[in-house]
Amino acid sequence: MAAIGSSVGLGNIWKFPYMIGTGGGSAFMLVYLICVLAVGLPILIAELTLGRMGRQGPIETLVDLGRRYSGRAIWGLVGCVGVLAAVLILSFYSVVAGWSLAYIPKLLTGGMSGLSGAETGKAFNDFLADPLALTFWHALFMLLTIIPVARGIQSGIEKAVVWMMPLLFALLVVLCIYAGIEGDFTAGMVYLFKPDFGAVTWDVVLAATGQAFFSLSIGLGTMLAYGAYLPGGVSIPRTSVVIVFAAILTAVLAGAAIFPIVFANGLNPSEGPGLVFVTLTVAFGAMPGGAIFGAVFFVLLAIAALTSSVSLLEPIVAAFAGRVRLSRSALAWIGGIVAWVLGFLTLFSFNIWSDVHPLGGTRTWFDWIDFLTSNILLPLGGVMLALFAGWVVTRQDSVAAVGFESPFFYSLWRILVRVVAPIGVVAAVVSNFF
Ligand code: PFF
Repeated sequence: MAAIGSSVGLGNIWKFPYMIGTGGGSAFMLVYLICVLAVGLPILIAELTLGRMGRQGPIETLVDLGRRYSGRAIWGLVGCVGVLAAVLILSFYSVVAGWSLAYIPKLLTGGMSGLSGAETGKAFNDFLADPLALTFWHALFMLLTIIPVARGIQSGIEKAVVWMMPLLFALLVVLCIYAGIEGDFTAGMVYLFKPDFGAVTWDVVLAATGQAFFSLSIGLGTMLAYGAYLPGGVSIPRTSVVIVFAAILTAVLAGAAIFPIVFANGLNPSEGPGLVFVTLTVAFGAMPGGAIFGAVFFVLLAIAALTSSVSLLEPIVAAFAGRVRLSRSALAWIGGIVAWVLGFLTLFSFNIWSDVHPLGGTRTWFDWIDFLTSNILLPLGGVMLALFAGWVVTRQDSVAAVGFESPFFYSLWRILVRVVAPIGVVAAVVSNFF
């Protein structure tokens, strides 16, 4: 449950639709699905398995298993890079989750009802132009993340996932039905699902690969940390299939709800990070009871984000616990505050620093942090974990730890983590430099 909570979050509902929009529609969808199944799923299985074998925090697990199988502790470095990625992701995650918190009162008070696409777009831009308001919501969300981790009450998170997830699915289905009736359903479906192989470029491949890692929470050690808690009787392959299925389903439902509304209202599919906020508020503003409905949606989105952000802060705390003489609670506060401060790079990217392009080009600070984490650090971290599980751990031990029921699926998994995933991911990342 906690692992599903970690994977399903802003990545599936906020990021996936706008990445599809900027990545040219169905081409992105196709590559994303292939990446999730051929690369993401096997690496997720590898991560959970390594976690179960090590039964400690991510870095200790990698150091220990590295020593045991190769005589080298250097594998712990992969865990260290993961911690860096977690801090960077948490920094922007909290800013965006803050938007979702801010939209709860905005909808509840009816302030968004009856607005056209152009008006919700303007409302969103006005909101982004106010750094003070953004700071408040960013701070509130980070607090909500720090408190459970500081108190060590993550079990509450699992309980939240149990009721939040079905409700979120139900609401997304209702939104899809609404979009089907009121929106331009055909245009939305064609955009999402009509295969367009010609539009598959290396840029799309890299973006979809990064999105696969981000949406499944793999490549930085979160799933390694969660694997350590998996009870012996739980099947890792089955658990992983459920996680992947939940992630794909949420993303596809979010896309199917959003694009018909985009096309019916003359909105721009490549609108960028504001897409969900702009399109869904048009729908909530027009439907009966939309104020309540919309507020509930953003509450659920914030909770989905929270079950992910907690899983980002946890490995940061675990990395330092036992190494420095600070309590778990102090580490959670320090980690959260560092990420919060770094979050201002993202927060200002949407207003006073929107024209600041570090390293030239067109990328803002937010774009760089997003690019570095999703498209470089997570994929490369994931490849290292795949190589470790596939080549360094002995076949005998991995057969026992992964627990496939069929030898065929075990062999398939092994080929995927040893060869297919590493070559595919490295090709995608390297292509970006040419
Ligand atoms: N998977 C989360 C989402 O899609 O929103 C984001 C995330 C959480 C990425 C935890 C990485 C991670 F370790």
